[in-house]
Amino acid sequence: QAPKLTTHYELMDWAARFFQLQLRKHPSKQPVLDYIRSRGLDGDTVKRFGIGFAPDGWDNLQSQHKHNPAGLNVLTECGMLIAKEGGGRSYDRFRDRLMFPIRDRRGRVVAFGGRVLGDGTPKYLNSPETPIFHKGRELYGLYELKQQQRHPSRILVVEGYMDVVALAQHGIPYAVASLGTSTTSDQMQLLVRTSKEVICCYDGDNAGREAAWRAMETALPHLRDGVQLKFMFLPDGEDPDSLVRKQGQQAFEALVDKATPLSDYLFERMLSSADLSSQEGKANLANTMSPLLNQLPDGLLKESLFSRLERA
Ligand code: UTP
Ligand code: MN
Ligand code: MN
Ligand code: MN
Ligand code: MN
Repeated sequence: QAPKLTTHYELMDWAARFFQLQLRKHPSKQPVLDYIRSRGLDGDTVKRFGIGFAPDGWDNLQSQHKHNPAGLNVLTECGMLIAKEGGGRSYDRFRDRLMFPIRDRRGRVVAFGGRVLGDGTPKYLNSPETPIFHKGRELYGLYELKQQQRHPSRILVVEGYMDVVALAQHGIPYAVASLGTSTTSDQMQLLVRTSKEVICCYDGDNAGREAAWRAMETALPHLRDGVQLKFMFLPDGEDPDSLVRKQGQQAFEALVDKATPLSDYLFERMLSSADLSSQEGKANLANTMSPLLNQLPDGLLKESLFSRLERA
């Protein structure tokens, strides 16, 4: 039986500790530990990110709060329990999954991502929006990064939990993930406040390349002078997790060092579909690029990109 916790933060913190305990004590923990090992994670990393295990079953979580109806309500508000329609009994949202707690900037657990062990859908199940979790405003791994580096000189934005955790395990602690959806304006603002160099490093597939373009569009209004946005394009079929595991820290960081600056990315993409042999083609290019460049705050970057456009 859990003590009578009452606030959203207390109950989410308790849930995180409950999942961590299951990873140490549950009778069917072994396949989970094997899975963690198969993904190349060691005990330190598991501990640092507070990774845990939600066992199979409908009421592992709620049975701990049988005599705490207020607590059950709060767990429901937090998205940990799902109320059955018509007022029947609730059931646990996360079952038989590897659990990644999502912490806010102060280190408080506000949500979870749960990965199925092996194959199955959905691959990742996430907490819904709740009174304490607005997914467009959090960045997975930011709290853990700030514990290591108060003022990171650069920060990588990746797609997934496993990318953040695998990079950290390989000596690259400066990655954060934008939680499934594309990076929001709030997240961009937070990123450029956290570090002067922001490097988008999405998966080497079509979805990843489209995410890069959208991230660029979202970032433009936040790119005051002194902030650099860059892009890393991974080989087809790779993501940061798979690549760092194959190639190691040094090779991966060599790619980070060679990331494409915003200006080159923008012009390469725009010029590849432009026809510069005619005045009409050039006007067309200017017409599509100007609205983008106008999103930039006034400053040297904006001026130099406009003059590069004139010279194109
Ligand atoms: P990916 O689809 O790139 O994950 O989703 P992956 O690399 O295949 O996963 P692994 O390596 O096998 O574990 C990247 C991120 O998108 C969100 C999650 O945040 C995930 O980490 N996502 C993905 C979901 O929210 N739900 C899904 O079903 C899939
Ligand atoms: Mn996938
Ligand atoms: Mn992906
Ligand atoms: Mn991926
Ligand atoms: Mn992956």
